[in-house]
Amino acid sequence: MAVVYNETKKIFSLHTRNSTYQMKADDYGYLLHLYYGKRISADMDYLLPFYDRGFSGNPYDAGEDRTYSLDVLPQEFPVLGTGDFRDCALKIREENGCYNCDLRYVGHRILDGKYTLPGLPAAYAKGSVAQTLEMVLADKRCGVRVTLLYGVLEECDIITRSVRIENTGNKKLYLEKISSSCLDFLYGNYDVIAFYGRHAMERNVQRVGAIHGRQVFGSTRGASSHQYNPFVILAQHNATEQAGECYGAAFVYSGNFSAEIEKDQFDQTRFVMGLSEEQFSYPLDGGGVFYAPEVALSYSGEGLACLSHNFHRFAGEHICRGKYKDQVRPVLLNSWEACYFDFDGEKIVALAKQAAELGVELLVLDDGWFGQRNDDNSSLGDWEVNEEKLGCSLKELSERVHQEGVRFGIWIEPEMVSENSDLYRNHPDWALQIPGKKPVRARNQLVLDFSNPLVAEYILEKISTILRQARVDYVKWDMNRSLADIYSANAEEQGAVSYDYMLGVYRLLEALTFRFPDILWEGCCGGGGRFDLGMLYYTPQIWCSDNTDAIDRVRIQYGTSFGYPLSAVGAHVSAVPNHQTGRSTNLNTRGVVAMTGAFGYELDFGKLCEQEKEEIRKQIAVYHKIAPLLLNGDYYRISDPFADEYGAWMVVDAEKKKALLSVVILNIHGNMPVIYMCLAGLDPAKQYRENISGKIYSGEALMAGGLPIALTAGDYPAYQVMFEAVDVGA
Ligand code: GLA
Repeated sequence: MAVVYNETKKIFSLHTRNSTYQMKADDYGYLLHLYYGKRISADMDYLLPFYDRGFSGNPYDAGEDRTYSLDVLPQEFPVLGTGDFRDCALKIREENGCYNCDLRYVGHRILDGKYTLPGLPAAYAKGSVAQTLEMVLADKRCGVRVTLLYGVLEECDIITRSVRIENTGNKKLYLEKISSSCLDFLYGNYDVIAFYGRHAMERNVQRVGAIHGRQVFGSTRGASSHQYNPFVILAQHNATEQAGECYGAAFVYSGNFSAEIEKDQFDQTRFVMGLSEEQFSYPLDGGGVFYAPEVALSYSGEGLACLSHNFHRFAGEHICRGKYKDQVRPVLLNSWEACYFDFDGEKIVALAKQAAELGVELLVLDDGWFGQRNDDNSSLGDWEVNEEKLGCSLKELSERVHQEGVRFGIWIEPEMVSENSDLYRNHPDWALQIPGKKPVRARNQLVLDFSNPLVAEYILEKISTILRQARVDYVKWDMNRSLADIYSANAEEQGAVSYDYMLGVYRLLEALTFRFPDILWEGCCGGGGRFDLGMLYYTPQIWCSDNTDAIDRVRIQYGTSFGYPLSAVGAHVSAVPNHQTGRSTNLNTRGVVAMTGAFGYELDFGKLCEQEKEEIRKQIAVYHKIAPLLLNGDYYRISDPFADEYGAWMVVDAEKKKALLSVVILNIHGNMPVIYMCLAGLDPAKQYRENISGKIYSGEALMAGGLPIALTAGDYPAYQVMFEAVDVGA
């Protein structure tokens, strides 16, 4: 049983394979957090701190007992207005401006299976793989009923959390803040690991100690953002890749979020994650219900590598859906860096022909095939094929591409509208903008009001028509600006718009992926500006970054690997000098980096010499050989490319019989020292043959003493080293 209830002590224990999460409904009805860590069977209520603390209030029910204070006790779902002055998970405003909600335990249910969330992406689990705990809390005075939802996925060591809020009274209430998870740690010296960045340089890694005060990472940009990823780790100060305790929290949501860490006056640490409070004020009429998006939590007692494995498995088995989720994805050629807006049908067919000759399986026609879109200033929203530019219909083009022997894909950006478009001219009120104020432009485009179901419905039909008229096997779903003017002409309450916008986007994603189940969907947001589990629920891969420079990509993909599996990471070989950085790297290095993801190319094959073409043919053959290992194996970070002068990572299969080590040298100096790399994930008792030299090493030696790599000259060399277990006795 994953969820165990001790009725006498009102203690609830959620057990996964290696972790236990515990809470208690106490005598006053407050739900106190007891423990989250290594799997145990004991009751942990003895840890609760009951001491008289100056200036920390006591609930009235505690009578003369000054040792009972919610300002000190660890809580499951702290609420503003209870005398807990730390960061809270819930703020409810009554119509008169009063904030005070006093939630007490009223009941619970333990159910087999995993709960679902209406309109929101959420982890799924078949049959008895999961259990759900519904914990009901209520405040009778203000008529709020809160159901905390816990999903326990035993096998991958994940506990999900979400919240259902219901207004059971008849007075209007406003949700001013709602977080989905809160973890309270009574003691400990924690580091916060967060993934920050910018367009074309996403998910850099920052590790800093938790401070007295609040550290907040989040997005108010309408998308989960390039700037801070909705995946944050709290790790014991001395935790490493292979050892130490750490906790990860991933938000299954693609819009505004907030991850907050607060170390309090008694050195206790609180970690809250959920929707951002900014421009959020969600009205709840009597009878109204609101669902908070889900947070997935995981604990590892064996360092960061294990924590990543938990999230990788979770994303693969419980988040990604559709027929491609477990499949090796087709090797693709994307037209963007090959020709940008400058193409016609003949050019695309020529690319398809060249692609087929080299072994590429899918040709993607990126931006520029619709409306009058010959640059990025017009036509978003006009989802009509530009047959004049293509010289044929999309159907004909898709058929000609297929005749060349490759599949066909297109790019769309459904959430946007150009002012220079028929859609905008006809429906200016369908764009998010504030009456009387000139809107903020970005890439010269505005955002469609997806909080208005009419708008989403219109786009659904337009895109469906396109997808029905041609043989489309793949769609890249882009989103190229942040939301700034949060105002819907259709909404009564503007504080609901950003959340309702996201729900509208999810509704469209759900409808399209349901209508077109054979299409492979790839998410994108100016590269990796919406790289989150919410999008992965609909699109099993996401374009990781607009930066295709192999050296920068080593770092971007390293940061991404902490929370997301390789199968999710769109990665392409592009031309040199690189279009984003101007740097040149050799084709082998570009291949080694791009192969550690959903692999493809993004350059004009017509400009390649014979030797390069031959190298690409070989690259694709290698990829096909290693792709099943990359898709199913366990991923290990061997170096920190932000600190080390090389990037190195490994993928090891479940039986520990096969392992692939990839190494990219990030800096070259004269007379380079040999690099000794301690490998990970191997079986210490096995012997492995290394494919380049044919030498046999023991797994134990490779992990303890390392593998020496003597460098070859040349800029940014890269190596792919395969290890295969051998039976030396035979
Ligand atoms: C974004 C994407 C790119 C490309 C362009 C097209 O920047 O991230 O890959 O599709 O849009 O306009």
